[in-house]
Amino acid sequence: MNPERNIDVLIVGSGIAAFMIARQLSSHLNVQIITKGKHDNSNSVRAQGGIAAALAKHDSWKNHFEDTMKAGRFHNDPLQTEVLVKKGLQIVNDLISDGMSFDKTLNNELAMGMEGAHSLPRILHIGGDATGKGMMSFLKEEIEKEIPIIEDKMVLDLNVENGRCIGVSVLNECNKVEHIYATHVILATGGCGSLYPYSSNDVSLTGDGMALAYRAGVGLADLEFIQFHPTLLYKGNKVIGLISEAVRGEGARLRTENGKFLMEGIHPLQDLAPRDVVARAIFERIKNGEKVYLDISSIKDFDNRFPTISKMCKDHQLIVEKSLLQVTPGAHFIMGGIVVNNSGETSLSGLYAVGETACTGVHGANRLASNSLLEGVVMAVECADTILKSNLSTTPIYPKVLVHEQQISDLDLPSKKEIQEIMMKYVGIVREKRELQQALEWFQPYLQFINTPLHNVNQEQAEIINMLTVGWLITTSSLQRTESRGAHFRKDIPYEVERWRQSRLIRSKDEAVQNMLTATGVNL
Ligand code: SIN
Repeated sequence: MNPERNIDVLIVGSGIAAFMIARQLSSHLNVQIITKGKHDNSNSVRAQGGIAAALAKHDSWKNHFEDTMKAGRFHNDPLQTEVLVKKGLQIVNDLISDGMSFDKTLNNELAMGMEGAHSLPRILHIGGDATGKGMMSFLKEEIEKEIPIIEDKMVLDLNVENGRCIGVSVLNECNKVEHIYATHVILATGGCGSLYPYSSNDVSLTGDGMALAYRAGVGLADLEFIQFHPTLLYKGNKVIGLISEAVRGEGARLRTENGKFLMEGIHPLQDLAPRDVVARAIFERIKNGEKVYLDISSIKDFDNRFPTISKMCKDHQLIVEKSLLQVTPGAHFIMGGIVVNNSGETSLSGLYAVGETACTGVHGANRLASNSLLEGVVMAVECADTILKSNLSTTPIYPKVLVHEQQISDLDLPSKKEIQEIMMKYVGIVREKRELQQALEWFQPYLQFINTPLHNVNQEQAEIINMLTVGWLITTSSLQRTESRGAHFRKDIPYEVERWRQSRLIRSKDEAVQNMLTATGVNL
């Protein structure tokens, strides 16, 4: 990077979508990545299950499309979903040609794994259950010589002038605020798993991108759809980590305390039913005071097939040979987010969103397993192509960075733990009107923090305000969706309603943006 040049593209976040965009743009534009933690504080690095692509002989993008739509309970945007599975195929092939190396069978063919709600095996893995890590280290190696990854800087707010995003305000490691200017700003900040006490996410995932988009009046949608992964490893009242759905794909079965197969009679696909169905079945048992186990006894050579999970078990003195692992569901992925078009553009000029923080509409009401790394790479390529063609003027009138002192004040905020408890109790796996209203009442005293730019705060306070913002948006969206669909389950209305109600619930501080997005059916 030439330090004298303007920043063309500022990428906020360091997951797969961030690295993939950086890779696409690095030889054309001056790109910078900033992240609030370290470069590997992302969900992508943790992704065990792989990347879905219809590469198998008897598979086709149409099969993958249908499985994605079915799992999403047809709430998906069909055009975007078609792009995902078709372009995904091509991009995964390109990555393989460029040297990304996925696991192979003994016959030297790509090994295709099975996961929930897929009609046939189509999941590629790296290192058995370390797919995200493998993909991320390949991409990092490709970008790190060209692109600086600046760590420990949290974006507090978007800087907007004359209806255009011109940069961001950042909290640096000395608690000072820096204003960084860039022609294009891309939010790749991931999801919000830390809103819940049990989560598969990195603890840094506090919904920051969605909250700062909301404060800037940018449109968001589908926030009521939170996916709970059915099988987080559980020991001594604590979640230890994820047990990939690929483990059930290889034959592991969920068992009740008295040894019965839990999913029998609940769904024709049993243990490989869509995630929301399996998560609810486990949740109901646990709510009744029972324990639920994953029986892995049928998997030959577990240690070699799933080395990450095997190590995690051993590190916590769980003996894999005993074959029964206690599990609980936990927050895993948000299907909604910042509304974007098929190029990753948001309702604010100069601002883009990619990866989990964005809502492209491809996941509908429930994401199909292993479609998230795929979405990350596909949308990164689409967004990068758009930026390369963009004629948005640069922002030369500003210095690249301005630094401001700030006075950190005491704020009457709840703790992260309190927010997590409220979200799990009232806005969790199973919801109902009365409880959602109780949650709204709880949020009431904190609404004063939700709508104003963040000044004079430290990182912990900023994260709590972002969690309050996204938690409140999820709660209001959950109340507004008066049906059950996919991951949003209302026990007071336990069924899907007619078509007109399936439309996306757009949320925006700015009514004009909301109306515009609603009127255009969110195709910007
Ligand atoms: C898993 O390995 O079960 C998670 C993969 C995903 O969420 O797609």
